[in-house]
Amino acid sequence: MNFGRQIHIKSPEELKIMRDAGRINAEILATVKKLIQPGVSTADLNAAAEEVLQKHGCYSPFKGYSQPPYPASICTSVNEELVHGIPSKKRILREGDIISVDCGTVFHGFVADSAITAGVGEISEEAKRLMEVTQGALQAAIEKMRVGNRTGDISAAIQNYVESRGLHVTREYTSHGVGRQMHEGPMVPLFGTAGTGMPLRPGMTIAIEPMVLVGTHETRVLRDQWTVISADKSLTAHFEHSVAVTEGDPLILTVP
Ligand code: MF3
Ligand code: CO
Repeated sequence: MNFGRQIHIKSPEELKIMRDAGRINAEILATVKKLIQPGVSTADLNAAAEEVLQKHGCYSPFKGYSQPPYPASICTSVNEELVHGIPSKKRILREGDIISVDCGTVFHGFVADSAITAGVGEISEEAKRLMEVTQGALQAAIEKMRVGNRTGDISAAIQNYVESRGLHVTREYTSHGVGRQMHEGPMVPLFGTAGTGMPLRPGMTIAIEPMVLVGTHETRVLRDQWTVISADKSLTAHFEHSVAVTEGDPLILTVP
């Protein structure tokens, strides 16, 4: 995926709009999360997300994206599916599954992008730990979103957090700037070296999204040309927040 290179610094007014977009995105994910249980289809989850989007007069930046055009408003990626799983009536959630729901909202011309991974009913200890590590990596990365740091500090925080716990990060998909476009610069890999890369500046907004795999860092894309799976079919997890750099603490945009 080519994200272009432009980095757009947001004004305080633009950050306010992005915060509102993020609030709506959080509402969508909370609504979808409540529905996650055995017997529900991933198409049901997409329909619920679209209802909340419509209620706010918003739309998804995912729908129609790229080539072949992404066909839904959210991504639903189950178990070995890492990201970009396409919702389907035929994909019924079962007890013990874990599912990543990735969601975007366009509000007044600005994009919010965030994702959660949730368990379906009772899940294994391995799945619980994978989800905890992935969420922990996101928190560790957000903590680096400060003036004085560089993009490599974000990358290294994720890689070190995950690999020191015996798990793997994808090399093929990255975190990314977010704003009027879903994908702006800077592109921020999930691996790298602290102290390198672009210096962070107030008004930079980045969608930070650790994508973590149990058995390997390698991935494959299914014949639908979207769904990304772990090459060894091991479990995977994905959490994401859109976050702004400020003069002070990082501002997480995609929370209620
Ligand atoms: N959070 C994902 C990303 O940043 C959402 C894109 S899904 C797509 O790449 F279908 F729109 F590509
Ligand atoms: Co994203």
